[in-house]
Amino acid sequence: MPEKRVLVLYAHPSPHRSEVNQQLIRAAKQVEGVTVVDLYHDYPTYQINIDLEQQRLLEHDVIIFQFPLYWYSTPAMLKEWQDLVLEYGFAYGQEGTALHGKVFFCSLSAGGKAEAYQTDGYNHFTIREILHPLEQMAKMTGMQYLAPLSLFSARTARDDGRVASHVQKWRWLLQQLVADNIDYDQASTLAKLNHYPALQTIEDDA
Ligand SMILES: Cc1cc2nc3c(=O)[nH]c(=O)nc-3n(C[C@H](O)[C@H](O)[C@H](O)COP(=O)(O)O)c2cc1C
Repeated sequence: MPEKRVLVLYAHPSPHRSEVNQQLIRAAKQVEGVTVVDLYHDYPTYQINIDLEQQRLLEHDVIIFQFPLYWYSTPAMLKEWQDLVLEYGFAYGQEGTALHGKVFFCSLSAGGKAEAYQTDGYNHFTIREILHPLEQMAKMTGMQYLAPLSLFSARTARDDGRVASHVQKWRWLLQQLVADNIDYDQASTLAKLNHYPALQTIEDDA
């Protein structure tokens, strides 16, 4: 029996062209205790089933958004999902305590270089800063926010041979989350989850 039930909400508008996220999703589907939901596949016309999505949230302890960074944010589907699913009285408001005590973080890929996501880089903000609206969403809904797991320079990652090692870390992270073997307080204070000490020791065995 998994200790924690992990939900990966995946959003990629053109998955057939994905070089990174499709690999991550394939790996996530193989981890016992992890539920993967492919939002663009399930809702091609954006008609999100609110009751079903809320029920899924209730049944899981760790909620992960997985996506390619699009214009410094999530693809539109994940915004629509938030707008519809995180209702008053469910996710916030006096009676809206359904998500209290859960854990939330983002697993994303970005075309820009890691150096660009710095105060003095051309994107001016760190990836954690860029995701501040999601951090505050987690706080507002009573979830513990962990630092984002990110893969930068995603468009060249496959040719550079960096996808396999990232998939390896992602798989390990999911397994540890299921086993409830993560120091959540430490993971919440980092700039990036990639800096989580035990994660940095994972070797690429692919
Ligand atoms: C519409 C669009 C917007 C994008 N916006 C950004 C962006 O704001 N920052 C960035 O670093 N990369 C951006 N990218 C690049 C994607 O993040 C990158 O192609 C993706 O992470 C690669 O993952 P994949 O191989 O799974 O598709 C954008 C790409 C598209 C198509």
